[in-house]
Amino acid sequence: LSKIEVKLADIPEGRNMTFKWRGKPLFVRHRTEKEIATEEGVNLGELRDPQHDKDRVQNPKWVIVLGVCTHLGCVPIANAGDYGGYYCPCHGSHYDASGRIRKGPAPLNLEVPFYEFVGEDMVIVG
Ligand code: FES
Repeated sequence: LSKIEVKLADIPEGRNMTFKWRGKPLFVRHRTEKEIATEEGVNLGELRDPQHDKDRVQNPKWVIVLGVCTHLGCVPIANAGDYGGYYCPCHGSHYDASGRIRKGPAPLNLEVPFYEFVGEDMVIVG
């Protein structure tokens, strides 16, 4: 299937769920208020691939990214690493809770796919 529907009520705050989409892992993360505040406050000068959090999300509560490390394609682990977002164990890349690369060999932020919110509780990716 080229599109996937994700029911947001199934994902508790603070959790990241992994779906399969076009043969790849898709992460949908329900951020906490603290994570939102932290990521919105990051100075772009600290970033390897500078992107403001608000340019990566449509609704600050929800981060939707491909679960594919931009180094060599491993699947990062959620809620791990030095920045609390994602950690790729293959060669040690650390991503923040916006999916931005912060440390390690990966060159780019986790990719944000095309998606749209439908109603209160549904997002369609693809
Ligand atoms: Fe993720 Fe190398 S594939 S750090």
